[in-house]
Amino acid sequence: MRKYRVLGISGSPRKAATDYIVREALNYLKSKFPIETKYFSVAGKKLNFCIHCDHCIRKKEGCVFKDDMTEVYDLMEWADAYVLGSPVYQGNISGQLKTLLDRTRAMMARNPDVFEGKIGTGIAIGGDRAGGQEPTLRSIHDFYIINHIFSTGGGAFGANLGATIWSKDKRAAGAEADKSGLKSLYKTMDRLHRVLEKLRYSL
Ligand SMILES: Cc1cc2nc3c(=O)[nH]c(=O)nc-3n(C[C@H](O)[C@H](O)[C@H](O)COP(=O)(O)O)c2cc1C
Repeated sequence: MRKYRVLGISGSPRKAATDYIVREALNYLKSKFPIETKYFSVAGKKLNFCIHCDHCIRKKEGCVFKDDMTEVYDLMEWADAYVLGSPVYQGNISGQLKTLLDRTRAMMARNPDVFEGKIGTGIAIGGDRAGGQEPTLRSIHDFYIINHIFSTGGGAFGANLGATIWSKDKRAAGAEADKSGLKSLYKTMDRLHRVLEKLRYSL
């Protein structure tokens, strides 16, 4: 049996709190379980908005744009599971992450089963303690549900809908100092591994 493959995505345009936390999640998974990881950050990347041209639907050959999503498409196909991390922007996911998720329409258009059996969880990083982390996680879960991806949080008593981090707007140092947020992160990663074990037995 091969190792489980987990892709972490940071939806922040900066290499700051979200970058730190998603990497921390992947390091934790790698060190504790038979898991290999890959990482993609939207920071500095060229990601065009979906323009609803329907090229992907008509041609079934992927997206009309050849930008940095090309790398994301390969990574998303490679992975068994996703850890999507987003900074909270106006109470929800960042525009960058939304753009990336919109663009996955081209994957489903080419192959409606492309995400079948994959698993996903989420991390929300807000500057405020209750700044919209939960709506952010819900948006991540909605993406999974819509796209046939099994969705998991971290479970009751600590990480309910997933990992919630309070950065106090202090970039990586702020996120690192949020010890209860980190507990929710590790609990969520433990849960992700448990779900992988339960659902990916055929690997
Ligand atoms: C446009 C924008 C909107 C934001 N809206 C919120 C918000 O609604 N709630 C919140 O808690 N923090 C908000 N923040 C703060 C960021 O979520 C917070 O600083 C986060 O840790 C940034 O992640 P990063 O360090 O990875 O970029 C906002 C920041 C920006 C730039």
